Amino acid sequence: MALRRTSTSPRTFFKTVCLSMTIAAALTGRPAFAQSAPDEVTLKLGQRTFLLCQSCHSTEQDGGNKIGPNLWGVFGSKAGAKPNFKYSDALKNAGVTWSDETMNQWLASPKDFLPGTKMAFRGIDNEANRSALIAYLKQQTGGSKVASLKQETGSAH
Ligand code: HEC
Repeated sequence: MALRRTSTSPRTFFKTVCLSMTIAAALTGRPAFAQSAPDEVTLKLGQRTFLLCQSCHSTEQDGGNKIGPNLWGVFGSKAGAKPNFKYSDALKNAGVTWSDETMNQWLASPKDFLPGTKMAFRGIDNEANRSALIAYLKQQTGGSKVASLKQETGSAH
């Protein structure tokens, strides 16, 4: 049986979203893609939210570990991959790659996402604060090695 296509294919949907974002950007003077170029308000909120993390984490390249591992290059990398940090077994064996989505779940509640983690942090309930933090964090830690729109199972490139 032939695959039935819905009237709005993902590609058409994506194009429509892009187009409306471009129009919105033209109207507001803001960048079209919040993810690749987060606006200043988002980054400020992310920076403020990072105050919750900075006692335990540095973000700059070659920044040292604190109570938690340095976070440079974390987006797109496997969880628990820094060679010079002693992770919990839970994090080391998580089999998780840090994307916007996994980071979002982790930061909402580390202990629910990875029972047994030794990151002593309750989580961030507020969704806007979490996504602003992720945008800020990505900017501070050298960006992501994975295209955020690409699915794990998607095409090779
Ligand atoms: C009290 C210290 C502490 C605080 C606060 C804290 N962390 Fe952590 N973080 C840790 C520790 C310890 C680990 C390693 C956990 C493990 O091995 O189970 C960790 C691990 C991580 C990892 C996984 C890194 C990797 O290499 O896989 C990320 C990402 C992370 N933290 C982000 C954050 C963010 C963002 C915040 C602020 C919202 C935060 N952490 C707050 C201590 C902390």
